[in-house]
Amino acid sequence: MLSKGIGPRTTRNATRLVWLPDLRRPHLSSYYLPIFIPNERPHVKLLHLDSSILNENSATRAISAAVVEHLKQNDPAIEVTYRDLAAAPLPHVTLPALAGDESAALVEELLSADILVIGVPMYNFGMPTQLKAWFDHVLVAGRTFRYTAEGPQGLAGDKHVFVCMGRGGFYSEGPMAAMEHAESHVKAMLGFIGITDPAVIAAEGIAISPEQREASLKAALDQIAELQIRGTAPVT
Ligand SMILES: Cc1cc2nc3c(=O)[nH]c(=O)nc-3n(C[C@H](O)[C@H](O)[C@H](O)COP(=O)(O)O)c2cc1C
Repeated sequence: MLSKGIGPRTTRNATRLVWLPDLRRPHLSSYYLPIFIPNERPHVKLLHLDSSILNENSATRAISAAVVEHLKQNDPAIEVTYRDLAAAPLPHVTLPALAGDESAALVEELLSADILVIGVPMYNFGMPTQLKAWFDHVLVAGRTFRYTAEGPQGLAGDKHVFVCMGRGGFYSEGPMAAMEHAESHVKAMLGFIGITDPAVIAAEGIAISPEQREASLKAALDQIAELQIRGTAPVT
């Protein structure tokens, strides 16, 4: 069961103080009453990343879109930011790029997200270079992790992450398992920045046959119906 919770962070869920004129003493302009007004429930922010080069034939695009759709059914007010890393690739990191505005904006976008949905196709046993470039921009010391006397500490753990995998063959067990460097690498980098429990929805054997592709995709999409947002009823 992939039931997993997420809610808006409490830091964005405070009250605000406003000063209103005291209507009991309208003649005295200096009398103001402090009123605490609860902020409106902040929108949950979702960052959706795709990286497949296969456009409408992509398994991971289908899975990640279904996850986002499912979460939106639970909470229609979710604010979605979408990045198509294949259609609009990020530059490879260089030292100047790491210190630049684009990297800083990508880090900010990640840190402000409550939910992250990532499409991760397996290409040549790892993730696409376009997705690796995104990770290279957002793994930044002092922002998403820091080094301490006790070792590295992740600073981006306050979010829920859905990793939407697509693999041509079978890697979750059997002789090819040792060649799996896509999910394992993505999980390692997420763990390094503090996200230690991503939900993984995987479709394997996509390239084996049309029947296997259909069955694997269906199994992955069926799993999504089980996903649940904390504090809300599951979508039925
Ligand atoms: C450039 C490229 C490289 C691939 N490399 C592998 C691979 O190493 N192992 C594998 O099992 N499948 C491989 N595949 C198949 C993909 O993993 C499979 O098509 C999967 O569905 C990818 O997700 P997508 O459909 O969202 O692009 C590769 C596909 C492409 C296009």
